[in-house]
Amino acid sequence: MMLRYITNSRISEYLPVLSDFTDEEAEKVNSVHSLIEGFSPTPLRSLENMAADLGVRKIFVKDESFRLGLNAFKVLGAGYAAVKYFSEKYNIPTEELTMENIRKISSDKDITLITATDGNHGRAVAYIARILGMKSIIYMPKGSSKERYDLIESEGADVTVTDVNYDGAVLLAKKKAEENGYVFIQDTAMEGYTDIPLYIMQGYMNILRETAIQMGEEVPTHVFLQAGVGSFAGSMLAYMVNHYENYPRTVILEPKNANCVYMSKANGRPYEVTGDLETIMAGLSCGVASTIALEVLMNYADMFVSLDDKFARVGMNKLYHAKDPDPVIISGESGAVGMGFLYEVMTKEEYSTVKDILGLDKNSVVLIISTEGDTDKASFKSIVRI
Ligand SMILES: Cc1ncc(COP(=O)(O)O)c(C=O)c1O
Repeated sequence: MMLRYITNSRISEYLPVLSDFTDEEAEKVNSVHSLIEGFSPTPLRSLENMAADLGVRKIFVKDESFRLGLNAFKVLGAGYAAVKYFSEKYNIPTEELTMENIRKISSDKDITLITATDGNHGRAVAYIARILGMKSIIYMPKGSSKERYDLIESEGADVTVTDVNYDGAVLLAKKKAEENGYVFIQDTAMEGYTDIPLYIMQGYMNILRETAIQMGEEVPTHVFLQAGVGSFAGSMLAYMVNHYENYPRTVILEPKNANCVYMSKANGRPYEVTGDLETIMAGLSCGVASTIALEVLMNYADMFVSLDDKFARVGMNKLYHAKDPDPVIISGESGAVGMGFLYEVMTKEEYSTVKDILGLDKNSVVLIISTEGDTDKASFKSIVRI
């Protein structure tokens, strides 16, 4: 089975979790991000040719491969969380912080950040630690790509590829943090650990803050969000519920072997997917969803989809082999799945029910967030055949 879906009825009630994802909070996040040298919005691309081919009014792609030269969006979360941690620990309001005073205090106090990662989040944590004058320790799941390992190490981190899967690596990092007084910067909220994951989610909001400005009068009707632990998707959705009067139809996409959000919906309670979580979408290969994210997604999303790796391959190819005047977009496995989903649903008879349920038609304005570029270059080349 290439694709399975579950529809969801949104609630009209305003849950307290939404109050952390307002426009006002997003502005605060942007002020913190702006402390980072070279910080600027990533481009929002419009795919006119593709929109005409697929029979929708507009397709916008927010290209996070340009984020601070790191090829993925993750630094938005790690950066905001590290600065918020620092601000609270040393009791200095974020508005009074500068890079210089963070660096000075960090090196005096010998702060170490620790995390587990498939690659993108770890690179972001290592980068932030370096620029804030902190140290970093990164645990990667078994089978992690050598290229991603090297990139993290080149930021000065102490990196280990463990012999366990992603969720096992998270537990190892947590234990190490507790034993040594390191700061655990993980994006999965779990019982007793919610502050940092919340800051990470808040940090991601800047993607949609920028997008809303870039789109001007245009409002998306459909947004496709890929999920690993669900923090990214939960953050985007919570922001949209606050920001738009009628927020867009929202579809949550996951690889079929790591579909913990989909399975949580199917079972009506948080569900752990076990095993190797095998998928080419490395960033989405997570078996346990974040509790904060689940609260947002279960109540406000419109559809949960569990799909085959083929959708990521289709998306990567469609974005890379663009037809004039559409720009070429370099989007990696976890970044391109939204494009692949849109393409398949609009062009394959077998998915016509999904298309109808979502109301995708000539009036639709679709927003896709390409969350990474070619973070695994060898795999990218073999998939887009260059
Ligand atoms: C490129 C990319 N996209 C999406 C995600 C999913 O984010 P989350 O784990 O918050 O659901 C990740 C997570 O690592 C990622 O690396």
